[in-house]
Amino acid sequence: MAEFIPVPPFDLVVFGATGDLSLRKIFPALLHRFLDGQIPPQSRIVGVARSELDAAGFRKLVAEGRERFAPGAVDAAKFTAFLEQVHYVRIDANAPASEWGALDAALGGSESNVRIFYLSTAPSLFVTIAQRLAEAGIAKPNSRIVLEKPIGRDLASSRAINDGVGTVFEERNTFRIDHYLGKETVQNLLVLRFCNMLIEPLWSRATVDHVQITVAEEIGVEGRGEYYDKSGAVRDMVQNHLLQLLCLVALESPNTMDADAIRTEKLKVLSALRRIGPKDAAVKTVRGQYRAGLVSGAAAPSYADDLGKSSATEAFVAIKAEIDNWRWAGVPFYLRTGKRMGARRSEIVVQFKPPPIALFGEQGVDANRLVLRLQPDEGVRLWLNVKEPGPGGVRVKAAPLNLSFADAFVARYPDAYERLLMDVVRGNLSLFMRRDEVDAAWAWTDALLAAWSEAGGEPYAYPAGSNGPTQSALMLDRDGRAWWDPE
Ligand code: BG6
Repeated sequence: MAEFIPVPPFDLVVFGATGDLSLRKIFPALLHRFLDGQIPPQSRIVGVARSELDAAGFRKLVAEGRERFAPGAVDAAKFTAFLEQVHYVRIDANAPASEWGALDAALGGSESNVRIFYLSTAPSLFVTIAQRLAEAGIAKPNSRIVLEKPIGRDLASSRAINDGVGTVFEERNTFRIDHYLGKETVQNLLVLRFCNMLIEPLWSRATVDHVQITVAEEIGVEGRGEYYDKSGAVRDMVQNHLLQLLCLVALESPNTMDADAIRTEKLKVLSALRRIGPKDAAVKTVRGQYRAGLVSGAAAPSYADDLGKSSATEAFVAIKAEIDNWRWAGVPFYLRTGKRMGARRSEIVVQFKPPPIALFGEQGVDANRLVLRLQPDEGVRLWLNVKEPGPGGVRVKAAPLNLSFADAFVARYPDAYERLLMDVVRGNLSLFMRRDEVDAAWAWTDALLAAWSEAGGEPYAYPAGSNGPTQSALMLDRDGRAWWDPE
């Protein structure tokens, strides 16, 4: 049974409140926490954006967003009660602090509520907003700031943002969000590793052949083309989500589950990631961009059509990452992510080494695999070899031990943002990135992007609805391996 730990009353200000992320994720997540009775009635939620809207107009947007992005029956009276807790203030983030009085007024009166400022805006506004909040006296010493990814577009810009925001908000009040860390199965990874005696002894170069991390999406750039085209798959997905998943697979056991203990272990992994230079880029990475095709039976446009212009930005990337530490030396971590692929699927596959001798003749014996499905159909499968029943000699066949979370636990899966927002209110930093982690991730990413720019070239084409360009399969084929792409 799910349990909801009460949180103290809070005031949450969402900047960029009319944007895609806010309406798609943040407000539906708040609604669900409200419906579960977790948001104390003294709390206030304030949307801030530049649009000329009043509270009623903004509430309508929130209601439409829920309808579109988080449909399903909700009790009408409760939904109205939620909307009544939602306010709106129109501010241009670039306007001087003297024009921020409306926000101060909206929050006035109750300083006992912890104040949280959620910046769901372009990162170029992060420092300005933090400074205006300080100048207008709205940010208090214990106020918290939530920074959406991407934090900058490289190490230098990320440092500038962290420095600027850091002049107003201390590190312990800075919550750098990576929503993948809030996903149920991602957290389960730590439980699986550190609460099961049988897994940890096998979790190293001694028995693991390689690891695959795939985050495949069916969607394209979805109206975010302007942002996405400047970012590409590496900045949008790899620098944050995929590297965070890699860290959780690879990290050493933290001494405790304290935020800093976990984050220090992640940092060690990031620091041990081998840089990919211009000479390696062609063999260790594959860039792709989708052309028109069919996704789940429906015609899908090309990246250029989605964008409205041609571009050399990658919407797919496959990377052979290597970790130079004692546990993982020689064990490749193949990372892959892309838009408009065949199916929405996020999965971590830990593939073990083959048995040392073929006792049952020359029939091929599959490697053991531990497959952690993050979405959809969350669950864990352990592929073992068994004897196919029946006469006719010993026929070895791979079959899964299948733990489907949907079957095993009757629970609604909270969206990652629900957990993360409540963690901010509680002041729990475990699932947020520390500044040095972000720096280390950017340093590795910068090297990769510099290698690409030095090596030149363009992304390979792949049809929408496929598993990416064939070069991605060839990259593994050269190593005698293959992507795990079950039918
Ligand atoms: C976001 C990216 O961080 O994650 C998007 O900016 C991507 O481009 C999204 O679509 C994927 O998240 P999820 O939770 O749907 O896998």
